Amino acid sequence: MDLFTVIKDRRSCRSFLPDPVSDADIETIIGAAINAPSPLNSQPWSFVVVTAAATKEKICSEALRCRNFLFEKSGWKWLGRYDLEFLKNVPAMIAVVGDPKKSGADIFMEGGAGAWREACAAAVQTMLLAAQAIGLSTLWFTMFDKENIKQLLGIEGEAVPLSIIMVGKAAVPAPAMPRKSIGETVRYLR
Ligand SMILES: Cc1cc2nc3c(=O)[nH]c(=O)nc-3n(C[C@H](O)[C@H](O)[C@H](O)COP(=O)(O)O)c2cc1C
Repeated sequence: MDLFTVIKDRRSCRSFLPDPVSDADIETIIGAAINAPSPLNSQPWSFVVVTAAATKEKICSEALRCRNFLFEKSGWKWLGRYDLEFLKNVPAMIAVVGDPKKSGADIFMEGGAGAWREACAAAVQTMLLAAQAIGLSTLWFTMFDKENIKQLLGIEGEAVPLSIIMVGKAAVPAPAMPRKSIGETVRYLR
């Protein structure tokens, strides 16, 4: 499939069919992710693939807890309406785990090391596009406490679960979200 079609067709999916995702498809997605750029080629990522129903339930509970916390904190009404039950039916979850020790020359900069997170974000976007290219839908999910998910997934050391990518076949086509125009986002210095 044409890359630009894949980019344009990708939309966040929050309703999945129960069809399992094959190990081959999971490996295609992760195989694409590990081609993402990283500072000094540090490849600061690792992946935890979750298909066990009990673990998915626990991730869903943590997401609900986090959503309720954020709702109380922010008062944002949409959070109160954000139904997370779909998480229990996600066929496969891929946690993207970043290693803060694997950053680049940014470790000497004033703002401190951050490039490891950026590299993991590049890996995530690559995963979303790879999944789209093989007919699967995804959601980049971050509504959880990182320490809680770290314990839940048995992640050791300083590594941090940054995102969980929900993967499966979409039950319904996801609505297109509005985008700013190129004109609104670009400034040329010629
Ligand atoms: C860093 C990041 C974190 C996100 N976290 C969540 C999340 O926790 N839950 C969720 O439903 N969507 C999450 N999203 C998806 C966005 O809501 C979505 O990309 C945005 O609304 C645009 O819609 P689209 O992906 O369909 O184009 C996240 C996206 C990014 C890039």
